[in-house]
Amino acid sequence: MAVQKTYSMIKPDGVRNGHVGAIIDRFERAGLKIERMEMGMVTNAQAEANYAEHKGKPFYAGLISYITSGPVVKMVISGEGAVAKVRSLMGATNPADATPGTIRGDFGLVMDENVIHGSDSPESAEREIGIFFD
Ligand code: RTP
Ligand code: MG
Repeated sequence: MAVQKTYSMIKPDGVRNGHVGAIIDRFERAGLKIERMEMGMVTNAQAEANYAEHKGKPFYAGLISYITSGPVVKMVISGEGAVAKVRSLMGATNPADATPGTIRGDFGLVMDENVIHGSDSPESAEREIGIFFD
């Protein structure tokens, strides 16, 4: 495994419900490094680019309006196998199925508001970092 970069974002419900510190703590405890971090809104164009693979699906419109609905925390995270590591700390997409001890398992309730995003491959990571950071 090599040192990788990945993109992760604490979603509006994660910020609203006060889980920012706990989530960053989990990443750092796992040995990952926060390379860049910024709190702010996601623009419509950024949301559509980030979730382009889901365009046309029944949940797409709700996903775009949700991710642009309030402040998020955007992060570039690095470390050995960072892409898979972040995904494993996040847990399953649906918080109802996410194992206790994972971020979604502990802090999420519903599929539509599932606390955190993480790139699903090194290629997605490079693309998503370009969408959210210069
Ligand atoms: P994310 O991209 O947000 O990190 O989540 P993910 O990889 O675990 O899941 P993905 O398949 O990329 O889906 C993106 C987001 O869309 C919502 N979703 N709803 N109702 C549904 O069937 C459905 N499927 C996906 C979720 O909020 C998911 O995080
Ligand atoms: Mg995804």
